Amino acid sequence: MVSRRQAMKVAIIGANGQLGTDIVKAFAEEEVIALTQNDIEISDIDSVQRAFEGIQPDVVVNTAAFLNVDLCEKERAKAFLVNETGALNLARVLDKRNIPLLHVSTDYVFDGTKKRPYEEIDAPNPLNVYGESKLAGERAIQANCSRHYIVRTSGLYGHAKCLAKGSNFIEKILAKSKESPELRVVDDEVLTPTYAFDLARQIRTLVQTGHYGLYHATNSGECSWYEFAKEVLKLAGSSKTVVPVGSNMYPSEVRRPAYSVLENANLRSQGLDVMPAWQESLAHYFNRS
Ligand SMILES: NC(=O)c1ccc[n+]([C@@H]2O[C@H](COP(=O)([O-])OP(=O)(O)OC[C@H]3O[C@@H](n4cnc5c(N)ncnc54)[C@H](OP(=O)(O)O)[C@@H]3O)[C@@H](O)[C@H]2O)c1
Repeated sequence: MVSRRQAMKVAIIGANGQLGTDIVKAFAEEEVIALTQNDIEISDIDSVQRAFEGIQPDVVVNTAAFLNVDLCEKERAKAFLVNETGALNLARVLDKRNIPLLHVSTDYVFDGTKKRPYEEIDAPNPLNVYGESKLAGERAIQANCSRHYIVRTSGLYGHAKCLAKGSNFIEKILAKSKESPELRVVDDEVLTPTYAFDLARQIRTLVQTGHYGLYHATNSGECSWYEFAKEVLKLAGSSKTVVPVGSNMYPSEVRRPAYSVLENANLRSQGLDVMPAWQESLAHYFNRS
């Protein structure tokens, strides 16, 4: 007789967001508790307690954050309330119930001066309020939740809308290419664009291990926004010209790291890295559109 594995019970916070939507799909064969902001407000401890009353998930995946980088700079208190206190509330409530927490964080915890891919052992030094508040959230979880995974990623795009930012970079480039004969895109900020579909599968792989800790999880390789835009237009079959420009063409009050490539060192050392090259994933995104 073949015995069936019992489904894992997974609660996903931010389930209607860009990444949350793909995580819900990635766990389709498990028992999913999809939580939106109508079900849980992470910055409110009572709301967090209520959301987990009477349920005992095997793991909670938190994608919720205040992630509009420009708005975080203007609304510092709100950034820390959601990104630090929200993470702390989850850590405390789940630790008391002995439920593991997987929390999503960002490449913006680094200052970009290393110029080589950042590993998990590298010291963070955020340049802006978003990065500072996300780092504070990571530390709150490390100090208050013994069974945690923290997963830093970068440059996310997916088929579901990024609720905090509206359209993703690909949609913005394609829209601009219809309006103007030539596009200007910065070539002095380097990152790894990461496909939410792949990250969701990576998260599914990781939470089945019980190997808690800090992880970098992005697609592999690196590119500037300019190189990313060129690849987007090539795959879209557009002949529009992209001109590389410096970020000083678009002055901003918010400092961003010039180089925020992450090395999936901890995933790789455990044989868990399932993230494809960014160009392969971008082609996959276009094939599924
Ligand atoms: N997008 C990127 O390029 C990027 C890069 C690196 C890391 N990350 C990290 O990846 C994660 C997911 O980002 P995403 O692109 O999927 O963002 P998203 O589309 O904006 O999704 C965020 C989700 O969190 C919910 N949420 C926001 N504040 C909340 C709160 N206080 N309480 C409960 N739920 C709340 C949002 O619901 P409502 O919309 O209803 O408020 C939304 O469902 C975040 O942790 C972010 O820091 C993102």
